[in-house]
Amino acid sequence: MFLQPFSISPVLLLIFASFLIFCETNVSANSEDTLIFEKTVNVRQFSARVALDRPIKITDDRFLSITLSAGLIRDKWAPNFDTSSVKLKTLARGLSPVYLRLGGTSSDFLIFRNIEEFGKKLDFLNNDAPDSEDLQIPNTTSFNMTMFDWVYLNEFVRSIPGWKLIFDLNVLQRTNGHWDPSINASSLLVESSKKGYCLAGFELGNEPDSFFHILGYRIEPTVLGKDFRQLSKFKSLVPCMGQSLVIGPDVTARTMRKYKHELFLRKFLQEAHASLDAVTIHHYYVNARTATSEQFMDPDILDSLKTEFDVALNILAETSPGKPFWLGETSSAFGGGAPGLSDVYIAGFMWMDKLGLSARNGISVVMRQSFYKGHYALIDFRTLDPRPDYWLSFIFKKLVGNKVLDVSIDDQERKVRLYAHCTQKNGKSNQTNESVTFYGMNLYQEEVHLKLSQFSTNQELHIYMLEPNGPDGIFSTNVNLNGKLLQLLNENQELPPLNPRIQKSNIIRITPRALVFIVVPAVSAPACKSPK
Ligand SMILES: *[C@@H]1O[C@H](CO)[C@@H](O)[C@H](O)[C@H]1NC(C)=O
Ligand SMILES: *[C@@H]1O[C@H](CO)[C@@H](O)[C@H](O)[C@H]1NC(C)=O
Ligand SMILES: *[C@@H]1O[C@H](CO)[C@@H](O)[C@H](O)[C@H]1NC(C)=O
Ligand SMILES: *[C@@H]1O[C@H](CO)[C@@H](O)[C@H](O)[C@H]1NC(C)=O
Ligand SMILES: *[C@@H]1O[C@H](CO)[C@@H](O)[C@H](O)[C@H]1NC(C)=O
Ligand SMILES: *[C@@H]1O[C@H](CO)[C@@H](O)[C@H](O)[C@H]1NC(C)=O
Repeated sequence: MFLQPFSISPVLLLIFASFLIFCETNVSANSEDTLIFEKTVNVRQFSARVALDRPIKITDDRFLSITLSAGLIRDKWAPNFDTSSVKLKTLARGLSPVYLRLGGTSSDFLIFRNIEEFGKKLDFLNNDAPDSEDLQIPNTTSFNMTMFDWVYLNEFVRSIPGWKLIFDLNVLQRTNGHWDPSINASSLLVESSKKGYCLAGFELGNEPDSFFHILGYRIEPTVLGKDFRQLSKFKSLVPCMGQSLVIGPDVTARTMRKYKHELFLRKFLQEAHASLDAVTIHHYYVNARTATSEQFMDPDILDSLKTEFDVALNILAETSPGKPFWLGETSSAFGGGAPGLSDVYIAGFMWMDKLGLSARNGISVVMRQSFYKGHYALIDFRTLDPRPDYWLSFIFKKLVGNKVLDVSIDDQERKVRLYAHCTQKNGKSNQTNESVTFYGMNLYQEEVHLKLSQFSTNQELHIYMLEPNGPDGIFSTNVNLNGKLLQLLNENQELPPLNPRIQKSNIIRITPRALVFIVVPAVSAPACKSPK
C-alpha cells in the first residue's frame, strides 16, 4: 500500500510530459494507445563514438563477395540462371566489384568434359530441377561440366566489369592418395588460359574436415596440405594463372569450437601456409530446418560469430601470421537457407552484422552464399527479383569503404549494433572527402535515438534508412529506402539512385527494426585520407 503513491506518480508525470511532447513533436501519427506516451518519454538514447585518427583494419576492395553453388551446373543452370537476362546483368553490376566463387559440396563431384556442345540451348521452362539444393542430404553422384558450361559462366563473369571468378577444383580426383591435377585440372586450366579466362583464384575441395560425414573416409589435413602445395606449383606453370590466388581450406566453422575441426585447420596450415594466399572458413549461424525469427534478431547469436573468429584467428596467428583470412562461404542458415526468413527483410540483421563484425575483426573478404539459388540467395530463383539482402549489399557497396574504424556504443543489451568505415570512394574521382559511414541496426521493438556525441549538434548527416515495405513487416520481401520502395528502373536496365535524407543534428531517430547507413560527410577524418 505504501508503494502505491510511488507507482502512480510516475504515470501522472508521464501523462503530463506526454502533453508537452505532443505539442512539440506531433506524435499523433503513430499514437495508437496511451502506451506510446510512455515510450516517447522513455525513448532509449544511445551514444556512439568513432576513433577518427586511424583505421583499425583494412579489408579487401572486394570485401563483400558472393558465391554460386557448383550444384547449379549439375542442375544445368536451373531453374532460371539466364545470363542473357537484362535484369540479371543489371543486378550483377550493382554488386561490383566482387569475387564470384563457384564451389561447394558439388565441386568434389564435378567432372570436366572438354566437349563443346555447340548449339546447346538451355531450356529453363522444361527443367524441373528444384529451387533449392538439399545440402543436408548431399548428392554424391558425379556430374559433367562441359566446355559449354565453362564458357557460359566465364563469359558472364567477363561481361560484368569488376567481377572476378574463383573456382573450387575437385580434390577427390586422386591417384595413389594424392590430388592429381592431370586428371581434369590440367586441361581445364590450359583450355581456360587459351580462351583468356585468367581466374582470380582456385580452391581445392569443400569442407574437407567433414568428408567422413559425406564420403565415409577422411583426407588427413597434412595430406591435404601437400595437395595445396601441389596446386600452387602447378597453376603457376599455366600461362595467365601465375597471379591466381590459392585459397583454402574452406573448412566448416560453425563447428570450429569442436576440437577435431580446430585440429584439422591447425595441421593443414602447418603444412600448407606458404602456398596459400588466403585462409578460408565457412560460417552459418543456424540450421535452416529449425531456424526461428527470434534467432535472426538475437544479439547472442549474432555475437557467436566472434567466438568462431577468435578460435580461427588464434590458429592463424600461430601457423600463418599475417595471412589474409576470408569467410569463404557464409550465410544465415545452413541447408539451403530458411524459407520465410533467409529470403526476406529479417535476414538483413544477420547479414549486416556479419559484414560489420567481420570487418572489425580483420576478415578481408566475406563471400555471401549465395548470389543465386537457395533461400539464402540475394535474388529470387524464378523471377530474378532482388531480395532485401540484395539491396542491403548494393547500398553497402556504394557507401562503405575498406578502411575500418573503431566505434563504440553504450547499449549493454547489444541491440543497437553499430559499425563504421571510411566512406567508399566515389567511382571516378576517388574522393571520399574524408567522410565516415556508420552502419547498424535497431533490434528493439521501439524507436531509439542514436547520438553521435563527438559531432556538433548541427552536424550534417546523410541518412539511408532501410525498413520493410508492406504489411508483412520484417517478413516482407520488399524493402524501402527512406520510405520509398527499392526497385530496378527503366525495365530492369537501371539501378535506382540512392537519395539520402539530409538532417542537421547529431541525433538520429532509428525506427524499430530498421537497418541504417549514416554518412557523416567531409569530417576530414585523418584515418580516411588517401595514402600519399
Ligand atoms: C501531425 O502529423 C500528421 C501525420 O503526419 C499530419 O497529418 C498532421 O497534419 C500533423 N499535425 C500537425 C499539427 O503538425
Ligand atoms: C543427383 O545428381 C544426378 C545428376 O548428377 C541426378 O541425376 C540425380 O537425380 C540426383 N539425385 C538426387 C537425389 O537429387
Ligand atoms: C558425362 O560425359 C560422358 C562423356 O561425354 C558421357 O558418357 C556421360 O553420359 C555424361 N554423363 C552425364 C550424366 O551426362
Ligand atoms: C576428367 O576426368 C574424367 C575422369 O574422372 C575423365 O574421364 C575425363 O576425360 C577428364 N576430362 C578431361 C577434359 O581430361
Ligand atoms: C584511386 O586510388 C587508387 C588507390 O587507392 C589508385 O590505385 C587509383 O589510381 C586512383 N584512381 C584515380 C582515378 O585517381
Ligand atoms: C566530395 O565533395 C565534393 C565537393 O563538395 C562533392 O561534389 C562530392 O560529391 C563529395 N564526394 C563524396 C564522396 O561525398
